[in-house]
Amino acid sequence: MSQKILRGRILTFHAEPQTPHDESAHLYIEDGALLIEAGRIVACDSYAAVRPLARAEAEVIDHRPHLLMPGFIDTHLHFPQVQVIASWGAQLLDWLENYTFPAEARYADPDHAALMAGHFFDQMIANGTTTSVAYCTSHKSSAEAYFTEAARRNMRVIGGKVLMDRNAPDAVCDTPQSGYDDTKALIADWHGKGRALYAITPRFAITSTPEQLEATSALVKEYPDCYIQTHLDENHAEIELTTQLYPDAPDYLGIYEHYGLLGPKMLLGHCIHMQPREIDVMIETKSRPVFCPTSNLFLGSGLFDYEGLRARGATCAVATDIGGGTSYSMLQTLNEGYKVLALRGQKLHPYRAFYWMTLGNAVALGLEDRIGTLVAGSEADITVLDARSTPAMALRMETCQSLAEELFILQIMADDRAIAQTYIAGEAQKKQSAV
Ligand code: GUN
Ligand code: ZN
Repeated sequence: MSQKILRGRILTFHAEPQTPHDESAHLYIEDGALLIEAGRIVACDSYAAVRPLARAEAEVIDHRPHLLMPGFIDTHLHFPQVQVIASWGAQLLDWLENYTFPAEARYADPDHAALMAGHFFDQMIANGTTTSVAYCTSHKSSAEAYFTEAARRNMRVIGGKVLMDRNAPDAVCDTPQSGYDDTKALIADWHGKGRALYAITPRFAITSTPEQLEATSALVKEYPDCYIQTHLDENHAEIELTTQLYPDAPDYLGIYEHYGLLGPKMLLGHCIHMQPREIDVMIETKSRPVFCPTSNLFLGSGLFDYEGLRARGATCAVATDIGGGTSYSMLQTLNEGYKVLALRGQKLHPYRAFYWMTLGNAVALGLEDRIGTLVAGSEADITVLDARSTPAMALRMETCQSLAEELFILQIMADDRAIAQTYIAGEAQKKQSAV
């Protein structure tokens, strides 16, 4: 089995940083190295300590002065919306009707789905994202395209075929029975196969009949180790329509609660306009709220209450929500996240931001023993960051005095140009390594 050493400035978190100056939650090694074998990190230490552990013929890739970090994790995005990004002039419900559903209808064609899956994962790699948690369309073929392309690249991904049987054109709807059958078949084919994991995916309560949520409930009981993903409390008109469609529910989250969908495997996209009872239930069930800042700004949805939910003990995830979201970059996502929280009088410091897009999201997914970290034994998904990747960043870096300051420059100014290389299970994915 061949070995590889990546040399560079290593940064990896082992806990959530509590303050802007909390240096105890991460490991930083100025002249560090990762020893990689069979897709895993075998050692993470100084170069001087790692070099003698490797065989003489091990390839050494020198990324200095760049930062080696765990690959970024995007916990909520829509693979079939790669051509929906930047669609003008609407809030959530019109945007779905006018742009999203027509685009998603095209994924009934397996060739289109396969072509777009290639583009989608190219964007993930370009942006240093090594794990995506994606919604596909209601067509089984869209999920097959997603998982097939991810397997070809050996990526650790989560995804699922959307369940939706009403309030949308027939071309994007399934039925309670077909949705159930297709989901079962996809779980059998993909869940736990290679690096793939399945997420049972009812789109949101508006597009599912009670019969479909019953079928979803059965799936969740049959496959307790699958994820579940849906949307919650994103937009006022959405909440209004939802409560009309489910008049007996105490509130929006009460619908998902009624069907037994909540728990630590449940990823709830947006969670902006929450009632006190919904927050109580979310905390009790340990369901995960997912903050999608660029989407929330673009669709004018509202401002996520990160500190409020954290204070109650929520494990929040963060995500791009392509194509309501406007950038594939987790760096840009945390840039806009910083601004959303600033409008709420909250401060997102850079250690917390970089923790969040790596180990924090891994913890929200329960995958912290495998991804989101560079410790020995974890999967070798790595992002190489260059804080001088544009002239404006290089100029700003001339006065940079600390690691925290460099991270903040990356968080606010960087995008895919700062991703010098992306490794998936130890294999470099970018054709041109900017070493
Ligand atoms: N709610 C239901 N579907 C969607 C979607 O595709 N994007 C967003 N942002 N919200 C949704
Ligand atoms: Zn979404």
